[in-house]
Amino acid sequence: MTERQRILITGASSGLGRGMALEFAARGRDLALCARRLDRLEALRAEIARRYPMVRVAIRALDVTDYARIAPVFREFDAELGGLDRIIVNAGIGRGEPVGSGRFAENLATVTTNFVAALAQCEAAIELFKSRGGGHLVTISSVASVRGLPRAQTVYAATKAALTSLSEGIRADHWGSGIRVSTILPGYIDTEILSGSRQRPFIVDAETGCRAMVRAIERERATAFVPGWPWTPIAFLMRHVPLGLLLRFL
Ligand SMILES: NC(=O)c1ccc[n+]([C@@H]2O[C@H](COP(=O)([O-])OP(=O)(O)OC[C@H]3O[C@@H](n4cnc5c(N)ncnc54)[C@H](OP(=O)(O)O)[C@@H]3O)[C@@H](O)[C@H]2O)c1
Repeated sequence: MTERQRILITGASSGLGRGMALEFAARGRDLALCARRLDRLEALRAEIARRYPMVRVAIRALDVTDYARIAPVFREFDAELGGLDRIIVNAGIGRGEPVGSGRFAENLATVTTNFVAALAQCEAAIELFKSRGGGHLVTISSVASVRGLPRAQTVYAATKAALTSLSEGIRADHWGSGIRVSTILPGYIDTEILSGSRQRPFIVDAETGCRAMVRAIERERATAFVPGWPWTPIAFLMRHVPLGLLLRFL
């Protein structure tokens, strides 16, 4: 398997993006990190410099809903690190309201960030990889994508289902070429996105979750539930049980 030395992560200022950056840094990989909160990226870069001084870290402030900025920022990173071997489309939000509750703006924000901006990131990533003859595109979906979910989760789950489908389409486009596409579907991992929500079953801490995510990304499979246990069998059950039965657990 090719070692992907230069890795771009969007949404790297907290949670899974930050945790994956630290895991890849521990493996000696160079990093291109972006998010809106530049102060957090600066602190992360300083931490990586202290713990892993050989690792190169480039940072940029980027709001992924500023679609026109995405490709130029990716190209700047590419130039700064001398190429990008892997791009992880990770930035996302967990906001959402029941459909019909009169709070369309919240749901639109979720669609815009989790799907439209993810599409813009995939467009920019694939263009770059085509110009360089290869690369690994990774999209961060969710176990929530495997089934339509009720209430505040409805639109979030739909955006992640759309992202999983988008990723498979891009994978089909580049089948057998130097461009690989992986979709990671995390279960519950303790980050800011879950803050304020009720206790979640089978939740793991961010360090455990990010270590499992990086292991799964490095395998470069088409799709992976993370952590594999218990989320692979749970996802299978979620997909196949009758809706009435599923609702008892949600
Ligand atoms: N934690 C879980 O249990 C879980 C499960 C399944 C899937 N996921 C997915 O994992 C991804 C990361 O989430 P997380 O758990 O790490 O949550 P998090 O701690 O809230 O991190 C979200 C990251 O996305 C960035 N972001 C949000 N909106 C952005 C925007 N408009 N432009 C640029 N960056 C933006 C945030 O950075 P700024 O605010 O600084 O911009 C932050 O770095 C998301 O796609 C989420 O849906 C998480």
